[in-house]
Amino acid sequence: MNKKVNLQILPEGIVVKASQNLTLLENLLAHKIEINHSCGGMGSCGTCRVFVENKESLLNEKNEIEKEFAEERGFSDCERLSCQIHPVEGLIIRYKKD
Ligand code: FES
Repeated sequence: MNKKVNLQILPEGIVVKASQNLTLLENLLAHKIEINHSCGGMGSCGTCRVFVENKESLLNEKNEIEKEFAEERGFSDCERLSCQIHPVEGLIIRYKKD
């Protein structure tokens, strides 16, 4: 089932319908958010990093790829790779614009 959830994107402050079947990165790109993603979602570049403003405990746990990357870079709990997570209802994320 392709469940749609509300996703708030900062700094734009817009709320979009996001598909839980897609990664957060895929959802952002589908809504024309110009977030960097140099490795194309492989979890190796880190340019798709987002700051999770709420509900981080409801997100899928870090997989091995993301865990290794986050440890190397010293990510805090709210820093996630958008290509490795899926949205949940009411999620608020912030990304850095270039
Ligand atoms: S797109 Fe490269 S780590 Fe997510």
